[in-house]
Amino acid sequence: MSATKPIRVGVVGFGYWGPNLVRNLDRLGDAELVAACDLSEANLGKMKALYPYIETTTDLASLLADHDLDAVVVATSAPSHFAIAQQVIAAGLHCYVEKPLTLKSSEAETLVRMADEAGVVLFVGHLMEYHSAVNWIRDYIASGELGDVLYLYAQRLNLGKVRTEENAFWSLAPHDVSIVLYLLGEAPDSVSATGAAYVNEGVQDTVFANLHFPSGKIANIHVSWLDPHKVRKFTIVGTKKMLVFDDMEATEKIWIYDKGVGAPTDAMSFGEDLTLRFGEIVAPFVPMKEPLSIEVQHFLDCCATGATPRSDGRDGLRVVRVLEAVGESMAAGGAPVGTVVEV
Ligand SMILES: NC(=O)c1ccc[n+]([C@@H]2O[C@H](COP(=O)([O-])OP(=O)(O)OC[C@H]3O[C@@H](n4cnc5c(N)ncnc54)[C@H](O)[C@@H]3O)[C@@H](O)[C@H]2O)c1
Repeated sequence: MSATKPIRVGVVGFGYWGPNLVRNLDRLGDAELVAACDLSEANLGKMKALYPYIETTTDLASLLADHDLDAVVVATSAPSHFAIAQQVIAAGLHCYVEKPLTLKSSEAETLVRMADEAGVVLFVGHLMEYHSAVNWIRDYIASGELGDVLYLYAQRLNLGKVRTEENAFWSLAPHDVSIVLYLLGEAPDSVSATGAAYVNEGVQDTVFANLHFPSGKIANIHVSWLDPHKVRKFTIVGTKKMLVFDDMEATEKIWIYDKGVGAPTDAMSFGEDLTLRFGEIVAPFVPMKEPLSIEVQHFLDCCATGATPRSDGRDGLRVVRVLEAVGESMAAGGAPVGTVVEV
């Protein structure tokens, strides 16, 4: 969709990820990149070198007041999201916040309420909800081809980057949590999690989290920065078929296995009742488009029309509550912790 008049956008944060957002905003005709704010003069200098026409400042208040903006994109480090987004929404501007929306669910709730009251769009950068493969899988589940989803598990593993200010779940799992909730179309009612801190005291390097859903489905998310392999994989087991999404593969990211337990055509029989089905394995062709470009365009469309974004503030809140509850469960020795949020 094309906006009638370009959305005047300001950006806060031009560190590692901000430049990717700016690159997309710059090339989409629906946006007019007007001004940027960063506490780092050096990073503002890098932006000026690439985009000399963008006004820069280290003062958020002046960014919000002086440029007749419609919307602000926040790509600063997570601890600053709440304070910055509050100011953006209070200024009556549409607000895009990188994931995670906030560090506490109470803060995310505040932002959702503020945006509702101000009548502005609150958008969270849950990038994977705009990934072509994830959306292909969502459509495939909706088509019924997989049968009912029984359970799924996600693995995001690597050696490094070891962080000290947040555990591996906050660092690595926001994308997996958002994918799981998006694919299942429901939020969990509780989580239970186990993790261990080996490198830095109190900062879990590896976490196994179980998400329990009202429908009875379960999902496990395993993240670690202390692992010999780089893995970004989803496995979904349905009543008819099984699906693996391997985001490390360049092209064949999705594999569908016609495997299961039940009445087979090509089967290995175990006794009279139990038969295992080993059918064909297919890697469907899924056209890929840069997720960030789709995501940024969707944000601009929502700003233009007032539509509720796919990854809105409530979605951001649900993900933050899961991240928070995983920490609470680990602190309680793996006890189940409720995750239902209502705003
Ligand atoms: N969607 C994705 O795949 C993805 C990937 C990487 C990072 N991110 C997210 O993007 C955000 C930024 O991550 P990053 O890796 O670019 O961090 P970073 O530390 O590299 O960059 C943050 C920038 O924000 C600036 N900044 C910090 N506090 C500020 C404030 N109060 N006012 C103005 N500027 C401020 C810093 O000077 C820096 O330039 C995080 O929320 C992160 O989770 C998302």
